[in-house]
Amino acid sequence: MVNKNIIAIDGPAGAGKGTLTKRLCDYYGFSGLDTGSLYRAITLCMIEMEHDMDNINLEFAIELTRKLSDTHKILEYAKNPQIRSQLTNKYVASVAKIPEIRAIMREYQISFGTNPPDLPDGRPARGAIIEGRDIGTVICPNAPVKFFITASPETRASRRLKQYIDQGETANYQDVLASIIARDEADRTRATSPMKQAEDAILIDTSLNDKEQTFQVAKKVINERLKIILE
Ligand code: DC
Repeated sequence: MVNKNIIAIDGPAGAGKGTLTKRLCDYYGFSGLDTGSLYRAITLCMIEMEHDMDNINLEFAIELTRKLSDTHKILEYAKNPQIRSQLTNKYVASVAKIPEIRAIMREYQISFGTNPPDLPDGRPARGAIIEGRDIGTVICPNAPVKFFITASPETRASRRLKQYIDQGETANYQDVLASIIARDEADRTRATSPMKQAEDAILIDTSLNDKEQTFQVAKKVINERLKIILE
């Protein structure tokens, strides 16, 4: 049966999409897909293959994406913590803006939404949560629930800085803030599938809410729109 319980979560880097997705997946028994991690996985694989990331060879990048996607190896790369290194951060937007790569990833994401994988404990998923930049607008325009999660660049930079330090990397606040602002701009202004709030998406600003408040706002909307029976 084709899954119809799809929740689309979009928004810029560091806004709290991942935290909300995980909490909702645990609560509702949904499978979650972090689509940014797919673009990061492709980028990391190219870096590891010592590809010249300042002059990406399109044919190579497209072929590699197809292989990673067909073999599901993309999910293995997506689990590598290096996908969140500063080097991957530097190049991921250049990979994510390639239309042919987005087209391959689009199929991958649609298939996840219509047929979500079982939960880690083996139970069948009750639905899917897909998070990214273009989920509510391009990937799942008919999703019954859409959120656009945002926060000020300063709040997001502080969160990212903490993440780098926890990973043992050295970083300073001003550089992280500049990189966030640059990446927002690249994501917002690219020609293919730019980051955009869908007209029917509900906006949540996590600079104003803590994690629990954000979860409660989302839960209320989901309970109104989806018929999910929780045991
Ligand atoms: O959410 P993130 O920071 O892990 O995303 C990494 C990059 O991938 C970022 O530059 C935006 C891009 N991305 C995208 O273009 N489309 C998506 N659906 C998800 C992420």
